[in-house]
Amino acid sequence: MYTQGLNELAARPLAAVQEDPERLRRFEARIDAEEKIEPKDWMPETYRQTLIRQISQHAHSEIVGMLPEGNWIGRAPSLLRKSILIAKVQDEGGHGAYLYSAAETLGISRAELIEQLLSGAAKYSSIFNYPTLTWADVGAIGWLVDGAAIMNQIPLCRCSYGPYSRAMIRICKEESFHQRQGYDLMLKLARGSAAQRAIAQDALNRWWWPSLMMFGPPDTASPHTALSVRWKIKRFTNDELRQKFVDFTVPQARFLGLEIPDPALRWDAGRGQHVHGEIDWSEFQEVVRGNGPCNRDRLQARRDAHESGRWVREAALAHAAKRARAAAA
Ligand SMILES: [Fe+2]
Ligand SMILES: [Fe+2]
Repeated sequence: MYTQGLNELAARPLAAVQEDPERLRRFEARIDAEEKIEPKDWMPETYRQTLIRQISQHAHSEIVGMLPEGNWIGRAPSLLRKSILIAKVQDEGGHGAYLYSAAETLGISRAELIEQLLSGAAKYSSIFNYPTLTWADVGAIGWLVDGAAIMNQIPLCRCSYGPYSRAMIRICKEESFHQRQGYDLMLKLARGSAAQRAIAQDALNRWWWPSLMMFGPPDTASPHTALSVRWKIKRFTNDELRQKFVDFTVPQARFLGLEIPDPALRWDAGRGQHVHGEIDWSEFQEVVRGNGPCNRDRLQARRDAHESGRWVREAALAHAAKRARAAAA
């Protein structure tokens, strides 16, 4: 998750590279045989660039994703909830670190990737540009946002690129804890006082549609999906994953006694699926363009963190140079 099929929305289209047909044939035969592609193996340039973009958007999303919930660490209502939230936010930082490492195996440096984030050139998941107004938002994020992330990330454990698929296996285990703690929090609120139920419903109202948008634009507007599916970077299309998420989440909302804010939502017995109402894609486009409620704050927070960590990076480099000098002497 967290990549939202934004490859499709990239301002700069990937350069069309003429690949050696024989190498391409061997590469695709390996993909067909479910072999993993490793960093030193030959790969088409489009495969490499698509992965750099997808993995780095994913890494940036994990890092920026620490901000909305980090906002509540100091105000968690109990020691237990605070410990859970600290652990979760810390996990997200770890996910970002694994994923930057996975992207680096494709021949780009972490410094370059971070520069792309801080300059606004790189995208991250638009979901993190919404504010966390009440404590219930922490529950809704775990339940819905991490829930959507799992839906998207489980198939990535079988991604054809070895370092990405291996990173996703560990990440998915942690995401499942994130989803569980969020649902547990929602359950407490839903079974609590009228005021607690009201903030739980309000959080669901605000996070439902942005969560559906996390799967990215509809398949009809995702021209590169086919190639990503053929090369087993993606296993399912955006709409397929969104549908799975809706079918999974609607009964959970019912169990909580909360109402999904979609009057058009209905069960289609023929298809064996829920049918949801129209998604407001203009809102999605606006947030992706940088005009969501918190885009500016999020980037500013990352820039400030990068600046205040500068002395640590410089000190580490100076220490490494001193040790190298001492070893050489
Ligand atoms: Fe994560
Ligand atoms: Fe998570």
